[in-house]
Amino acid sequence: MRVTIVGCGYVGEALARLLGAQAQSYLTLTTTREQRRAELESLGDRVLVLKASDAPALKQALECADAAVLCMAPGGDRQVDAGVYAATYRDSITTLLELLPELPQLRQIVYTSSCGVYGDAAGGWVDERSLVVPRDAHAEVLLESEHLLAQARSDQRRVSVQRLGAIYGPGRDLSRRFKALAGTTRPGDGQSHSNWIHRDDVAGAMAAALAGAWDQTVNVVDDQPWRVADLLDRICTAADLPPVQWSGASPEATPMADRRISNRLLRSLGYELLHPTLSGL
Ligand SMILES: NC(=O)c1ccc[n+]([C@@H]2O[C@H](COP(=O)([O-])OP(=O)(O)OC[C@H]3O[C@@H](n4cnc5c(N)ncnc54)[C@H](OP(=O)(O)O)[C@@H]3O)[C@@H](O)[C@H]2O)c1
Repeated sequence: MRVTIVGCGYVGEALARLLGAQAQSYLTLTTTREQRRAELESLGDRVLVLKASDAPALKQALECADAAVLCMAPGGDRQVDAGVYAATYRDSITTLLELLPELPQLRQIVYTSSCGVYGDAAGGWVDERSLVVPRDAHAEVLLESEHLLAQARSDQRRVSVQRLGAIYGPGRDLSRRFKALAGTTRPGDGQSHSNWIHRDDVAGAMAAALAGAWDQTVNVVDDQPWRVADLLDRICTAADLPPVQWSGASPEATPMADRRISNRLLRSLGYELLHPTLSGL
């Protein structure tokens, strides 16, 4: 299979390693930065430096691909405004849609969206059939991008939209990210749920979508949502640090959406999680 990974960052690299180790595949990997070319060259057959909204460059990346995996992001964990989000997701997908008539061999698209498209469910479970109510301009861009990409679906082309939970894994481990909160007092009660997925399961689910020709929207989260207070407690205890305190006062103006994301569909598609619950805390 000839696969192009558009946006070969944290999860794209993990997918490239997995596909490279698995079977006969020809991999094209993209980055926006020339200085990343050397590190990506060891993971694929061809490396291209491009922004996906650059139509000629995207066409070059996709013109011989059977499958495209879109996992671009504006900058890992860095916070950016909604305009940068739109330039990264919506403009890239719009460009892809315009190119599709010239890409008849492209039979599969896998796209990493986010569980951020779901609204608040007062701690209840949500699945792919639940109402999506974007709570901010960023989530609106993500949902609009999903809707746009649905236009790429046809009898000849499948589209797998993967709504990812928050990603952790090597280099993005939870204790390092949250230890700074030890001993602080946070607003609210910390009872909202967070939903997680290990980087290797993101790569695994994308590979499964390619191999299984998935053609639907699927949540990619692990089995166990964590209340934020419980998670921080666990991290502080494991590191022998003072616990986080909760003020009980109303949290910030837009409190974190509280919902538990179901992975029942992911499991029913036959995917077995490598990390069914948070590991390495
Ligand atoms: N992080 C999370 O917890 C989380 C949660 C839910 C969903 N997701 C989704 O998961 C996917 C992968 O995230 P990640 O953590 O692997 O991101 P990442 O490490 O920041 O990698 C993003 C990749 O996209 C490239 N890129 C940036 N702008 C681009 C553009 N306009 N056109 C083409 N490529 C572009 C980057 O180029 P460079 O190589 O030059 O940096 C990089 O290779 C994203 O779609 C993200 O929205 C992430």
